[in-house]
Amino acid sequence: MNLPPHLSVREGHLWIGEHDTVRLAGEYGTPLYVTDEERVRARYREYRDALQAYYEPVQVLYAAKANGNPALLRVLADEGAGADVFSPGELDLALRAGMDPLRLLFNGSSKSREDLRLAIEHGVRVSLDSTDELRAIDEVAGAFGKTAEVSFRVNPALEVPTHPKIATGIASSKFGIPHAEIPDAYRAALAAEHVRPVGIHCHIGSQILALEPFVEAARVMVWIAGELVRLGVVLEFIDLGGGLGIPYRHDEERAPTPREYADAVMPVFVDGVTALGIRPALWVEPGRSLVADSTVLLTRVNSTKDAHRRFVNVDAGFNQLIRPAMYDAYHEVVVANRADQPPAGVCTVAGPICESGDILAPDRALPAVQEGDLIAVLDAGAYGFAMASQYNARPRAAELLVRGPDRALMRRAETIDDLVGTRATPPWL
Ligand code: LLP
Repeated sequence: MNLPPHLSVREGHLWIGEHDTVRLAGEYGTPLYVTDEERVRARYREYRDALQAYYEPVQVLYAAKANGNPALLRVLADEGAGADVFSPGELDLALRAGMDPLRLLFNGSSKSREDLRLAIEHGVRVSLDSTDELRAIDEVAGAFGKTAEVSFRVNPALEVPTHPKIATGIASSKFGIPHAEIPDAYRAALAAEHVRPVGIHCHIGSQILALEPFVEAARVMVWIAGELVRLGVVLEFIDLGGGLGIPYRHDEERAPTPREYADAVMPVFVDGVTALGIRPALWVEPGRSLVADSTVLLTRVNSTKDAHRRFVNVDAGFNQLIRPAMYDAYHEVVVANRADQPPAGVCTVAGPICESGDILAPDRALPAVQEGDLIAVLDAGAYGFAMASQYNARPRAAELLVRGPDRALMRRAETIDDLVGTRATPPWL
C-alpha cells in the first residue's frame, strides 16, 4: 500500500515517524489517536509556499473543526496559521492557541447574538450568512460602541463531486447567500451604521479531488468582487474556503497537491484582482488536507468471528471515528503488528457499538488476524476525534503527539468518571 512519508513498515510493524505503533499502543493503551507533528507542519508550509509563490498577501486559516486539539492548534499558530472558527468554543481554542484575532474568521449559518458579541469583543471578523444576521450584528456592535468588520458567505451554486452531505456550495445548501442577492446584501452592509464590509467568503464543499470546482469558485468570487468594488466596498480579503480532498484509497485515488491547487487557482485569482486594481489578502481555509493523514487511530482486536463473513472485532467504533458510518467513508486499515504479511482472507473490521452500522472497514483483504493484534486506521486526523462521541457510555480515546524521537499525550483518554462528571441529580431521585 502506498504510504505517506511519515508512515513506514519496519520489521513487520507500522511506524509513525520514529515510533513503532505497536509499542505506542502497548504503552498508552487503545483506542489511541497518534499524530505526527512534523507532517502537519509540512502540509501547512506546502500550502503557504505554493500560494505565496503567486501572491504575497496570503493567509491560511486552518479549519479548526477538522481537529481542534489545543496542541495541534498551537503547532499551527506557531507556523503562522489563522483559523476558520465555527463556534464560541472554536474561537476560544484559536485565541488560547495564540492565534492573531485578525487571522480568524467567525463562520456559521446560525450564530446567536452572544456569538456575535464574542467575535466583536475579540476583534474577530465575522462571515455573515444572511441579511437577518447583518441586522443583528449591527445592533450588537452598536451596543458595544464598535464597528464590526464582516464578509458575507456567497453560495456560488456549484455542483461538486463529493458526498452530498459535505457539498456546501450547491444551490440548495443551507449555507451562504445566493450570489444574485449578494450586491443587495453589501449595499445594506454599507448603509449599516456599525458594520464595515471588508471581505467576501465561500466554501464549496469538502473532500473534493478535482481542481476545476475550485477554479470555478475563484472565477465566481473574482467576478463578484468586481461588483462589490463598483458598489464602493473596500475588500481586504477574499476567502476561497477549504475543501481539497485527500486520497483515502491510497492505491486508487490521487489528490491534487497544494502546489497543483495554486497552479490552477492562483492565475485566475491574481489576474482577476489585478484587473480590478485591488490587492486584497487571499484567505483559504483548509482543514482535512492539513491534518487528515498526520494521524492514525490504533485499535486492538478483541476477537474474530467467522459468521457469514469474517469479522474482526476491535475496541474502536463509530464512537471514536464516525466517518465510515456517517458517510460510508473509506479508510485504509493496516494490521500494525503484521504489516509485512500478505493478505490471508477478506475481513470486516467492526467496532464495539451496539449498532449494525458500526463497521470501520468492510471486506478488506488482511493478513491472518487474531485476538490481541493491533489495527491502524489511517487518515484519521480530520473529523476523527473531533466528531467522536461517548455513545454507549464509552470514553473517548487519548491523543498522542509524536515529533522526531519525542512523544507526549496531547489529550489523555477519558475515564468512566469523566462520563458522569456533568451529571445533576434531580432532587426527587
Ligand atoms: N471552511 C468552512 C466554512 C467549512 O465549513 C469547512 C468544512 C472547511 C472550511 C474545511 O473544509 P476541508 O478543507 O476540511 O474540506 N465531517 C465531514 C467534513 C465536513 C466539513 C465541514 N466543513 C467529513 O468527515 O468528511
